[in-house]
Amino acid sequence: MKEIRDRYERVIDYMRISIIDRCNLRCIYCMPEGGIKPLDHSAILRYEEIIRIVRIAAELGVKKIRLTGGEPLIRRNLPYLISSIANICGIEDISLTTNGLRLKNLAAALAEAGLKRVNVSLDSLHPDRYREITRGGELQVVMDGIAAAEQAGLHPIKINMVPIRGVNDDEIEDFAKLTLKGPAHVRFIEFMPIGNTEFWNEGKYLSSEEIKDRVELMAPLIPVKVRRNGPARYFRFDGAPGVIGFISPLTHHFCSSCNRLRLTSDGKLRPCLFSETEIDLKSALRSGAPDREIERLLRLAVEIKPDSHAISQEKSFRHLKPMSKIGG
Ligand code: GTP
Ligand code: 5AD
Ligand code: SF4
Repeated sequence: MKEIRDRYERVIDYMRISIIDRCNLRCIYCMPEGGIKPLDHSAILRYEEIIRIVRIAAELGVKKIRLTGGEPLIRRNLPYLISSIANICGIEDISLTTNGLRLKNLAAALAEAGLKRVNVSLDSLHPDRYREITRGGELQVVMDGIAAAEQAGLHPIKINMVPIRGVNDDEIEDFAKLTLKGPAHVRFIEFMPIGNTEFWNEGKYLSSEEIKDRVELMAPLIPVKVRRNGPARYFRFDGAPGVIGFISPLTHHFCSSCNRLRLTSDGKLRPCLFSETEIDLKSALRSGAPDREIERLLRLAVEIKPDSHAISQEKSFRHLKPMSKIGG
């Protein structure tokens, strides 16, 4: 079996690909009110370029692909990209992270093209608050999108919620309760000082422990084993069909089991979300580099993957590229 390991013996089998930096929302923690200057179309990787990179990465041992954004569902002709990736030999899992606004119309076509599952970002279950947090999003549209994804068999649906003190942390219990109603995975993500860093401050941040303590006041949490791709730790309420996950980039270092590389929307390979080191694949692709050169650059990204990040010490990552370009 093909396998690629980094210097710290981590098997790298997962690639997150940001296919577009634009988004149809402007979440308060992700973007400034005026949005972010979008990249020129020509700066964004074309589908054929992405497909070529995935083919070569799969030959090295990458098995799982996640498409992210910005908002991946606003890129045209997405089912074509999905089916092309799904047909690459060695790719076992293809998923995407979305705000869900376009899922209602697209879920069936994406599933048919070979998409396996979706993660949906959802930070409030109240329409007015959802509109405020996302600066204009309609909650019902997302809910319809989640229902369409369920209907299309895009399981398990993972709901990502970022609790922010004084903004939506009073909804932690309501989100946890969703796991009593259906098989969703509800995941609480620690609010990171990345994205719209003007908005972040320590007072707004809740650690996973604090979030978990609040959930445990409702009923005991039982640890569960979930076939894991990512960094979440999972639990469930006794008898509940759904599971509750905690993603703790600040307090619980999961770097030692990190299995991923990132490809930014402008064609740079990023060995770590929090490092500024990037390898320019796009220039290589556009200057006619042969497959073996692309392979060399992929191997280089794995080779230089850092053993861990220092986000909890540095407190802020103002210098980082916007999340919407890196893909979260
Ligand atoms: P699956 O478990 O495969 O469904 O995916 P995932 O949890 O990796 O994907 P998703 O896009 O839903 O990511 C959720 C959040 O986890 C991201 O937005 C980040 O906040 C966090 N995260 C994912 N990967 C990393 C990583 O490599 N480093 C850090 N620090 N955080 C990550
Ligand atoms: N802190 C934590 N999570 C974030 N996301 C975006 N910005 C941040 C942040 N500053 C989450 C989104 C989405 C996922 C890809 O990343 O809510 O679910
Ligand atoms: Fe768009 Fe996601 Fe950023 Fe919200 S968090 S503005 S949905 S990219």
